[in-house]
Amino acid sequence: MRLPNFINFQLLTLQTFNFHTVMAKTKTVFFCKECGNESPKWIGHCPGCGAWNSYVEETVVTGKDSKSVAKDIDLAHFKSKPVPIKDVVSADERRIDMMCGEFNRVLGGGLVPGSLVLLGGEPGIGKSTLLLQVALHLKDKKILYVSGEESQQQIKMRADRIGINNENCLLLTETDTQEILRHFKDVMPDIMVIDSVQTLESPGVEATAGSISQIRETAAEMNKIAKTFQVPVFLIGHITKDGAIAGPKILEHIVDTVLQFEGDRHYGFRILRTVKNRFGSSSELGIFEMNAGGLREVTNPSEILLSQRDSNVSGIAIAAMVEGMRPMLIETQALVSTAAYGTPQRSCTGFDIRRLNMLLAVLEKRAGFRLGAKDVFLNIAGGLRVEDPAIDLAVMAAVLSSSEDVPLDGRTAFAAEVGLSGEVRAVNRVEARIAEADKLGFDRIFISKYSAKGLDLSKYKVEVVPVATIGELYKKLF
Ligand code: TYD
Ligand code: MG
Repeated sequence: MRLPNFINFQLLTLQTFNFHTVMAKTKTVFFCKECGNESPKWIGHCPGCGAWNSYVEETVVTGKDSKSVAKDIDLAHFKSKPVPIKDVVSADERRIDMMCGEFNRVLGGGLVPGSLVLLGGEPGIGKSTLLLQVALHLKDKKILYVSGEESQQQIKMRADRIGINNENCLLLTETDTQEILRHFKDVMPDIMVIDSVQTLESPGVEATAGSISQIRETAAEMNKIAKTFQVPVFLIGHITKDGAIAGPKILEHIVDTVLQFEGDRHYGFRILRTVKNRFGSSSELGIFEMNAGGLREVTNPSEILLSQRDSNVSGIAIAAMVEGMRPMLIETQALVSTAAYGTPQRSCTGFDIRRLNMLLAVLEKRAGFRLGAKDVFLNIAGGLRVEDPAIDLAVMAAVLSSSEDVPLDGRTAFAAEVGLSGEVRAVNRVEARIAEADKLGFDRIFISKYSAKGLDLSKYKVEVVPVATIGELYKKLF
C-alpha cells in the first residue's frame, strides 16, 4: 500500500531531524594562540588582543551531546550562595604547608585551598620530579597524581629515585577529564596534580589533546573542580621554545598562580619563579638543585654561586643582586680579547646582550676605553639568568678587570645600575644587598652615591664605598 504523500514527507523530516541531533557537525575554526579568540576564517591581526599572525586552524565538533564535566560538577549538591564577608574564613588561615620552604615561598606562604596552580617549564627541566617529590613528602595528605604522560611504572621508578614511600599518594594514568572527575569524587584527595594539561581531553570538545580549544576547556574544568571542592589542583604545562606556555594566554588567566621552573639543563640549579599569584607576591623565587636523588632545596644560594672564588684571575666580579625578594651574591665573568675577525664578537650567557652592548658603549664613550676592536664574552655563574639592573656595576668591573688584566679582590661586591652618561645609579633594597655581603664576610661593597644617603652603616662590618661615576669606580679599583 502506498502511503499518502504527506506522511512520507513527515517521515523524511523526522529522519533528517534525528540525523541532526545524533550526529555531530564538524567544523573548522581558527583560534588566536595568544588570547584564545575564535574566528570562522583565518585572520592576520587578532581583533581581541592585537597580535599578528597568531591564528591557527582547529577542528571542533558542535551539536554533540555535551558531556561537559562542568555540568557533572553542578549536579554535585554544591550550590553557590551569598555569605557575609565577615563569615568568610581567610584563605591565609587555611594555607597548606607543603613541607618545603622554597615551594611555600613561591606560593606566597603555602598552598591556598581551592587554588589552581600552573607549573610551566621546558621538557626535562624537572616539573614532574618536583611535584612528585612534594606529593611524596606530604605524608598526612591524600594526593591524587594524575599522569597522561607516563605509565605508573615510570612514575614508580621516579619515586624510587627520590627514595620516599608514601601510601597516601595515589597514581592515576588517565587523560579523560570525565574519568578524572569520577576518580576524584571517589578518592576525594586533599591535593590533585595533573601531569600535564596538554594531555587532557574533555569529552565535550572533539579536538586533539593539546589543541587550544582542549586546553581552554580542560583548564576551565579543572578550575571548576578546584573551586567547587575547595581542593588545590596543580597543572603541569609545557613551554614552547620561545618561552611561552604552549596553549593560549587564556590559560594563564584561568589559573590563580603561574609558577615557572627554569634553569640550564646542563647545570644542576633550578629556579622556581612566581610569574603570577593571586595569593601572594609575584616576584618570589625558590632555588633547587637537581641531584641523583631528586631535587634539593638551596636555602643559601650565595654559597653555591660563589664556590669557585679562590682562584685569582682577572675578569671576575661579584654582584650583590636581588632576585625576587632575596638578596644573593653571584659571580659575573668577563673575557675581553683582541677580535679574531674584522667584526668583534659579543656574547652573553645569562645576561641581556643588548644591555652588554650598551654598557660597552658607555665604557667607550664616557671612560675612554677602546673596546670597539675587542671580543667581549660575559658569563653569569650557575646558569642563572639575571634581570636585576643592579648587576651592571659588576659587569662593568669584570669587563674592566679583564681588559686591564688585573684581578679584582675576591672580597669585593658591587650593586648599582649604570646609566647612559656613565653615572652610577641607585637600586632598590640596597640595605638587603649590603647585609648579604656583610653576612658572607665580604670586605667591601661598591654602591651608588645616591643609594648611600640615609643609610646606617655602623651595623655592618663590610666597608661601603659610594661611587658616582664609572671614572670614579675605575680610580678606586685599579
Ligand atoms: P622530569 O621531572 O621528568 O622533567 P619534566 O617533567 O619537566 O619533563 O625530570 C627530568 C630530568 O631530571 C631527567 O633528565 C632526569 C633528571 N632527574 C635527576 O637528575 N634526578 C632525579 O632524581 C630524577 C627523578 C630526575
Ligand atoms: Mg614530566
